[in-house]
Amino acid sequence: MYRFGPVSNQEVDMETEETARDADSLRPLSNGLEGVIVAETKLSHVDGARGQLILAGHEVEALAGRTSFAEVCGLFAAASRMELPAPLHSALGEARVRAFARLSGLGDALSQAHCMDSLRAAMSHLSESSGPVDVIGAVGVFAAAWARTRAGLPVIAPSLTRGHAEDLLAMFGLEHDAARAHALDAYLVTVCDHGLNASTFTARVIASTESDLVSAVVGAIGALKGPLHGGAPGPVLDLLDQIGDADRASAVLTAELDRGRRIMGMGHRIYRVRDPRAFVLERAIETLETALDVGAIKGESAARKRLKLARAVEREAERLLAHKHPNRALRANVEFYTAVLLEALGIPRESFSAVFAAGRVLGWTAHVAEQRSVGKLIRPSSRYVGRLPD
Ligand code: COA
Repeated sequence: MYRFGPVSNQEVDMETEETARDADSLRPLSNGLEGVIVAETKLSHVDGARGQLILAGHEVEALAGRTSFAEVCGLFAAASRMELPAPLHSALGEARVRAFARLSGLGDALSQAHCMDSLRAAMSHLSESSGPVDVIGAVGVFAAAWARTRAGLPVIAPSLTRGHAEDLLAMFGLEHDAARAHALDAYLVTVCDHGLNASTFTARVIASTESDLVSAVVGAIGALKGPLHGGAPGPVLDLLDQIGDADRASAVLTAELDRGRRIMGMGHRIYRVRDPRAFVLERAIETLETALDVGAIKGESAARKRLKLARAVEREAERLLAHKHPNRALRANVEFYTAVLLEALGIPRESFSAVFAAGRVLGWTAHVAEQRSVGKLIRPSSRYVGRLPD
């Protein structure tokens, strides 16, 4: 007889007379590993009930917009055993330049249809001995090169002296003044790590096999591509476009839900309140708009209109989802305002996931370092429910 639910180790030990298959049937099954702790980390903590995100000992609100991405790389290196050269600002610049030099040898990596396929292919070209700074520096270079190539434009070389976020905007061919660079920097910090999310777990699983860092990051990129993880912000913009006007929010969202579709940018595996990163990004958008409004054209900017619409859509989505799922709090997640912020910076929506990767790569590399220091293969079990041999 199969029995589901937790059992003690003693009970499992008593299974010596049973077959391995019967013993498996006694172990608790955790589809999606929800709530299962499989690693210790000093890098980030997500409190889903309180809506708190701690990054290397600091609240996300205290870091984003106040501490540069390069400085947060330093915090993560100190919290893990990740080795980063100093000074980081110039080491990142040199890593970007080294990655750019590889573009000519990438073959058709940049002509892939999806930005994440291109990023995965391009990152695979990094040498097996690449260290964290090479990997962190390269993601933005390849992301920008894909966007430029796709638009039929020449790629733009990185600069040794610019800040990481500023240079990323410049390589996309976008305006990269202090306000915009500051906003993107706040974004990269906000998304740099988030507990054992799917892509970080993927990176740790690969690292646990004693494979190399580049392989771990390439695997993580594959996980981040999925719409339930890092692929949501593009579709969030599509939805905002489809709604167009706040008055239409209810009708469009209801139709989406009636078709059995999910509202992108809403809901989270861990948060049961609004994602704290949604607040941080909303603040970053407001700061950016205020800076851009100074001396700008009269009236409401397109970005400000978009933020207004996004807020109205969020309120309506929250209301409809609360009605549909009264026992499950489905609130805005990080992707909702990621879409609005990256659009305001001029980043094409097809590149959103790759820009997400440019921030999250910090978490991946630090988690790989942490996992290596644990030195234990991650190898869970499955329960066989298939046919038995005759
Ligand atoms: N829109 C509509 N319904 C949603 C929803 C959304 N955004 N998110 C969850 N639900 C519903 C599910 O359909 C499910 O309903 P059911 O019990 O009737 O089947 C219920 O809420 C629980 O969802 P589940 O998929 O079990 O939760 P999860 O923890 O596995 O999923 C996400 C978390 C993030 C994958 C999920 O909320 C989602 O798909 N969100 C949209 C994609 C997104 O924004 N991803 C970025 C995450 S940062």
